[in-house]
Amino acid sequence: MRKYMVAGNWKMNKSLAEGIQLAKEVDAAVEAAGKLLCEVVIAPAFLHLSEVSKAVGAKVSVSAQNCAAEASGAYTGEVSAAMLQSAGIPYVIIGHSERRTYYGETDAILAKKAELALANGLKPIFCIGEELSQRDSGKYLDVVKGQIENGLFRFSADEFSKIVIAYEPVWAIGTGRTATSEQAQEVHAFIRKTVADKYGSAVADNVTILYGGSCNENNAKELFARPDIDGGLIGGASLVADKFIRIVTAF
Ligand code: PGA
Repeated sequence: MRKYMVAGNWKMNKSLAEGIQLAKEVDAAVEAAGKLLCEVVIAPAFLHLSEVSKAVGAKVSVSAQNCAAEASGAYTGEVSAAMLQSAGIPYVIIGHSERRTYYGETDAILAKKAELALANGLKPIFCIGEELSQRDSGKYLDVVKGQIENGLFRFSADEFSKIVIAYEPVWAIGTGRTATSEQAQEVHAFIRKTVADKYGSAVADNVTILYGGSCNENNAKELFARPDIDGGLIGGASLVADKFIRIVTAF
């Protein structure tokens, strides 16, 4: 059976002390919640990864928010997949829409990042999703399909099985305008079918597909109840431990 996951993307928020505090609060709440049906992941800034890792126990995993598209060398300011691996970081978010939009990260660049992440034993959380104009023009399924094909279909079935997909409609990120659970389910089912057509139904049944975009403690339950929604990638609501835990326990 596929894995469920709730991952908190802290983006460029929190001082080191605040990040450690939030991680400890999340960890304590996860411990207190008992047996959970989903894996819990938090993604602080690069600088805070090691300290935040030390602040959580075995039930909370840590993820980077990005990695370099090159293996090593003269790339000032970059952090490689190998560096993350050597610091014991298991996950890396790749292709968040903010990276695509503000930093010009194309499908080709993101495919290289995913390749390096996998080569270094990291598990990518690979983000896809259409912009508002693409949804309004009715082309959103084509957009999502293109992002998957160009970013991920170079991998073998074995490599692909290590990837978590996050569907995040850009118009829903940080806007308070969540996709309805019908809208999200439609795209999630389409993603799973796209994966099945390429890798077969066993791989498709096993791939974890998260929803992201104004997912919060009030709407998580309805979203996660849908058959193809396997959890969430949470931005704003992951910055407050109590809200985040209510999303985690929405399963
Ligand atoms: P949001 O962000 O929950 O604040 O909309 C989601 C994301 O960007 O991953």
